[in-house]
Amino acid sequence: MLFLNHLVMDAYTPEQSKTILTDMVLPGETNPLNNLFGGELLARMDRAASIAARRHSRRIVVTASVNHVAFTRAVPLGSVVTVEAKVSRAFKTSMEVFIDVWIEDRESGEKTKANEAIYTFVAVDETGCPISIPEVIPETNLEKERFDAALRRKQLSLLLAGKIKPNEATELKALFE
Ligand SMILES: CC(C)(COP(=O)(O)OP(=O)(O)OC[C@H]1O[C@@H](n2cnc3c(N)ncnc32)[C@H](O)[C@@H]1OP(=O)(O)O)[C@@H](O)C(=O)NCCC(=O)NCCS
Repeated sequence: MLFLNHLVMDAYTPEQSKTILTDMVLPGETNPLNNLFGGELLARMDRAASIAARRHSRRIVVTASVNHVAFTRAVPLGSVVTVEAKVSRAFKTSMEVFIDVWIEDRESGEKTKANEAIYTFVAVDETGCPISIPEVIPETNLEKERFDAALRRKQLSLLLAGKIKPNEATELKALFE
């Protein structure tokens, strides 16, 4: 399959870009409530996501936008935090990376979903110019759902950044028709 992807399709599955960072929450990384500082989590997610984007594109990548972050659960001091990032869809030069964050119970070892986020990365050449990247082939149901909704999220992000006009956001418009 990998052989086929390289030769015929130039495409990779989300699993092939999967990047997992596991680390503890230390005292210097917390807020006054002794929970992980939001900016620290953003940095950990950015790091994992940029490695996933690099694995998918085999290029230099830069963060173009942070499209969505949900800090649904506080992450207490001492927690073991796992950040898992996968490229959910690739466009021409940009790619969406989905990040799931889990915390691990010390005694049972059970993992609970704490946060999630969606970042956009752009592959660039040595001069910083955007460059074409391989496609993504989603495999699981969740990967297919994320793949399908990614164009809508890209259009929303471009709209909010003032890079497209409302009438160009065709996928978004279709939601209201
Ligand atoms: C990201 C960057 C390369 C985009 O450059 P640009 O001149 O806007 O290039 P383009 O308009 O051709 O956009 C390139 C791709 O990014 C996408 N893109 C640009 N801004 C985006 C945004 N806000 N949301 C989603 N996608 C975006 C475009 O849609 C395009 O995607 P496609 O080729 O897959 O269709 C450029 O803005 C940059 O280098 N920014 C700084 C990045 C950086 O330093 N990040 C770290 C922050 S500290």
